Amino acid sequence: MKTARTIQEARELCRAHRARQARIGLVPTMGALHEGHLALVRAARGKADVVVVSIFVNPTQFGPNEDFAKYPRSFERDCELLEREGVDIVFAPSVDEMYSSENATWVKVQGLSERLCGKSRPGHFHGVATVVSKLFHIIEPDFAFFGQKDAAQVAIIRRMVRDLNLPVTIEVCPIVREADGLALSSRNAYLSPAERNSALVLYRSLQRAKTMFDAGERSSEKLISAAKKEFADEPSVRLDYFEIVDPDTLETQSVITQRTLAAVAAFVGTTRLIDNILLGP
Ligand code: PAJ
Repeated sequence: MKTARTIQEARELCRAHRARQARIGLVPTMGALHEGHLALVRAARGKADVVVVSIFVNPTQFGPNEDFAKYPRSFERDCELLEREGVDIVFAPSVDEMYSSENATWVKVQGLSERLCGKSRPGHFHGVATVVSKLFHIIEPDFAFFGQKDAAQVAIIRRMVRDLNLPVTIEVCPIVREADGLALSSRNAYLSPAERNSALVLYRSLQRAKTMFDAGERSSEKLISAAKKEFADEPSVRLDYFEIVDPDTLETQSVITQRTLAAVAAFVGTTRLIDNILLGP
């Protein structure tokens, strides 16, 4: 496994592979890797000849009062895990390598970026779209792998790829969960044992909506109000949003007539967690 610290090194390694017609799969991450990330790596391994994993805690997607400074970083352990998965290249640039102080160019996917997490984290998705498009230009992957865990991110990246005609195929992998349903997240490391237990309310609220949906309920208002009841029983968790939206446009849907996304975000103590579930076929 090769580690590239600079854009030039990463470009040279990837271009050498491309020159021999190898197909490149990119898995963008912020490190602190867990089984959710590794599932993306395995999907990339299955589809591409060369697997590149980027590890970059991207400052532009964190708000001023968010957890950029304390975001978990475990580079050596991450590299051990990736080596075991047969990854070919780790791209781990510094902040200075990725952004010059005069950076003036941003990728903004309008509309979508202000929905779901974009509402409570203004600017977050501009940072995500910008860094992902930079990674696409540096690595020039044939395929890029993202988790359904960040469903709004998936919608935004897909739209960016379409609008900018980027020559990359986006592959989306299912959410990897703990045995009790909690979606794996690097931020779960922040939770105390009591908070870890309370955090299950996110999954419970989604399950409650899904059970009602499966029983025939199609009114979003009814599903949302049932889901919110789960939060009423868990006062230590502060709900940010529970929404039912079109998975591509992220627009809210009042009556469910097609495949729909139920998405939730909540603060467990000071830790903000997200989860979602697809309803329908
Ligand atoms: P990060 O949170 O490290 O996640 C990297 C990728 O892993 C994302 O595509 C995310 O959806 C996926 N992932 C995380 N938890 C998962 C789970 N439990 N099951 C399945 N997939 C999971 O998302 C980011 O980083 C950043 O925004 C990034 C795209 C790297 C841009 O900075």
